[in-house]
Amino acid sequence: MKLGIIGSGAVGFAVGYTAARLGIVSDIKYNDIIEGKAKAQAMDIEDASSFYPHYVKMSWGSYADMADRDIIVTATGDLSGVSDRLQEYVQFKDATESYVKEIVAAGFKGIFIVVGNPCDLMADLVYRASGFPKERVIGSGTALDTVRLNTTLSKILNVDPSDVRGITIGEHGESQFVAWSNVFINNVKLDDYVKANNIAFSRDEVENLVRERAWRVIDGKGHTQCGIGSTVCSMIDAIANDRKKIILVATLLEGMYGLNDIYLSTPCVLGKNGMEKAIELDLNEEELKRLKHSEEVLKANRAKYN
Ligand SMILES: NC(=O)c1ccc[n+]([C@@H]2O[C@H](COP(=O)([O-])OP(=O)(O)OC[C@H]3O[C@@H](n4cnc5c(N)ncnc54)[C@H](O)[C@@H]3O)[C@@H](O)[C@H]2O)c1
Repeated sequence: MKLGIIGSGAVGFAVGYTAARLGIVSDIKYNDIIEGKAKAQAMDIEDASSFYPHYVKMSWGSYADMADRDIIVTATGDLSGVSDRLQEYVQFKDATESYVKEIVAAGFKGIFIVVGNPCDLMADLVYRASGFPKERVIGSGTALDTVRLNTTLSKILNVDPSDVRGITIGEHGESQFVAWSNVFINNVKLDDYVKANNIAFSRDEVENLVRERAWRVIDGKGHTQCGIGSTVCSMIDAIANDRKKIILVATLLEGMYGLNDIYLSTPCVLGKNGMEKAIELDLNEEELKRLKHSEEVLKANRAKYN
């Protein structure tokens, strides 16, 4: 599996290094507007070759050099100095559109995983610029927020994070929310679990913790890496190994939840063809309203800045 990474910063590095450590790809090519940075990331990851499950060919290249990739992760952007991911749209939308067109014109026939923020709007933009079917343009969406939710709840409930099946949906941004009606602890509904175990906690507080988590990490170390690197690699693994794994990713909604023409997160089956099936959750009225609000926020920004 040949992986391409556009944007060799903190996130690009974390995705490449995690993929090499897990042995889920055989070849990684880096690109960055700063060529020396792409070269350095590729060389640094290559330096740990003896410790990977198998050899991973490392290189760097131009946008056109990405044509032979199976998957391209777009991790361009800059969160420093912004307080809302939507601000990055203004700064990076034209460059993203331009490099996507260049990559596609060079013959790329694979799958785009869009991580650069705001990743829902950026996925929407990559979808339009590439002319690819929606199955081959996937936004990382609320996949990471869902992992953050599960970790947060696991600490409150004192269970392993893998036993928490929570769902954060909507925008990967300020209007995201937890679909509480769809949270399970292993196979037990959250409401039943907390009642049986006499546990009380504030749901609003949990949502805020999840929403603000990225900013707390950025405040402390300047960027986020481990969570996003591992989350994106779970997507790469699902596609590379045709796992049919269900992950919360941003996909083009066409009627689901009564929403249209916008990339938003819902559970999707990921396999060798990319986003193979989007699953509609049974949401309550309040959750549907909050999802609609996410859609309105994204559409308003798309209209304002396009
Ligand atoms: N979707 C998510 O869950 C999630 C999580 C974390 C970060 N992000 C986003 O990922 C992006 C990258 O974050 P980071 O911390 O790695 O930033 P960073 O500043 O460390 O790295 C970004 C890199 O992109 C490069 N770049 C910028 N424009 C480019 C272009 N046109 N072509 C090639 N390279 C270009 C920069 O030179 C830089 O090296 C940001 O938009 C951030 O908000 C998304």
